Formats: sequence, structure tokens, C-alpha cells
Amino acid sequence: MFAPKSLKHPTLFSSMPFTIIHISDLHFHAFPRSLPKYASKQALGSLNLLLSRRQQYPDQRFNKLVSELQNTNWDHLVISGDITSLSLEQEFRKARQLLQPLLKYPDKVTVIPGNHDRYIRAACQPDLFNKYFARYFVKTGIKTQRLTEDWHLIGWDSTHPNDWITAGGTVSRATLLSTEAYIRAQAPHIRFLLVNHYPLWFPPGQQVKPHHELYNLAHVLHWIKHQPRIAVYLHGHIHRNWSHQMSRETEPLHLINSASTTETLRPGQLSSYHRIQLHGSQIEVEPLLL
Ligand SMILES: [Fe+2]
Repeated sequence: MFAPKSLKHPTLFSSMPFTIIHISDLHFHAFPRSLPKYASKQALGSLNLLLSRRQQYPDQRFNKLVSELQNTNWDHLVISGDITSLSLEQEFRKARQLLQPLLKYPDKVTVIPGNHDRYIRAACQPDLFNKYFARYFVKTGIKTQRLTEDWHLIGWDSTHPNDWITAGGTVSRATLLSTEAYIRAQAPHIRFLLVNHYPLWFPPGQQVKPHHELYNLAHVLHWIKHQPRIAVYLHGHIHRNWSHQMSRETEPLHLINSASTTETLRPGQLSSYHRIQLHGSQIEVEPLLL
């Protein structure tokens, strides 16, 4: 059974690994009872998306995920965005209800928004991600959390509403400055896991689509190359699991993509999400298949 360990006694972890489960892009879907207020030609396109989601994301995949994680030992759960498909209130409500067994201890869970959770401007008034998940993130700014004696987590929100054909995000200057200030304030031996929805570095052969990634990708990439204390970057967005490293002048950055955990498996698919174990200052990454 799921048996969370207390974060109040970090010394307990000095001889045992601290376990993080990283899942992403769950894409809960639910048909609205009536057409959204932004109903239009484009809304019909979005209903098509919901129809295809029903096939790619059958309900039993969500149940299987919750059941599997309830029967796994972990210390912290990270969900790196795209909980919903269209930012509909029905989707957020369904996600909260179904995930509830995993969300009992807010200090053991980090949920950040993805572009599908802030789909268009009309879907953000009110901000439904904040309404349902702010207690696992923050309402404004960056999320910071001490995990162990050696590791802290930092969570970013780089999403904003787009038009109907773009899906990009932006890491704001304020986010970068807050992150730098937080890192500077911690003891020199502390290392950081950064959680953001969008990828920063792509495996060979992975096509980078314009208007689908971070609009300021080059700037953020340059920035993180000069942040050697950020050792791990957890993200989603591209529905292909990967775990790889980007070389830097100092130590490499380890980047882990756990999207899309709940999508129906493709032939030959090897993983749906990751288990990350922190052993002192070292990390071990294990791909897992749902
Ligand atoms: Fe996404």
C-alpha cells in the first residue's frame, strides 16, 4: 500500500533513497454539458479533440494509474502539466476526484500547469487550474520545496492562453529572477530539481515544432546552462517518454520527459513515466510502463 514517509524528519533519508514519481500530460477529458461560452467553429474542432481523446485515453488508463501509484512507495509525486484536454471545469473536477487518493498530503505533491490547462483566454476566467490545484503549486510566482538535506524542488508556470493553433509558453523574467534568488539563498551543497511543462532539450531526430515550444526557448536554454546547481529538469508536453542528458561546462543537466503517462501504449513503447531516486546527492532514474 502507498505509505508516504514523513518530510518532517529528513535525517531518516540519509541511508535510504528519496523516491519521486514523475507523471505528465494525463489529459483528463469530459464532454461539457453545454457548449462552452466560447463556442465557435474552433470549438467544434475542440470537440473533435475530445472525441479522439476518448479513444487515446480510455477511463481504465486513469484508474490503472491511480491504483498502481496507490500500491507503490513514493515520497513525492510530480505532475508536470496538461491535466486536462480543454481546460473545462468538468475535466478539472474529474481529475481532482479521480486523483484524490494520491493528493491527500499536499506537501508530498507538486502539480504545475500545462498549456492545455490554460487553453484559451476565455477558459481562464476564472483560472480553473488555480481553483482546483493551487494547493499543489502556488497562486503566483514559483513553487519551492525542500525534499531532502541535499535536494530542493522548484516548480514553474510558463503557460499562458494562446490562440487556437499555437501551444507555446514563455518563462517570464520574473520567474528566472525568483529562481536565481531562491538558489542563491540556499546552502552551497543544495542541488535542485526544476519542474516545467515544456521541454528544453530534444533527443536526436525529435522534430521541434514552431509555435509549440517555449517562445523564449533559446534564452531559457542559455540561462540553465549557467545554473549548474539545477541538476534535473522534469517536463512533459511532447508525448514521447525520454530520459537523457545535456552537456554543460560544469556537470550535465539530466532531462526527463514523462508524457504522456495515461495515453494508450504504442507498439514497442518502453515507458509511460519515471521513478527518480535521490541517493544523497546522486540520482537514479527508472522508466516505468503503465
Ligand atoms: Fe502540453
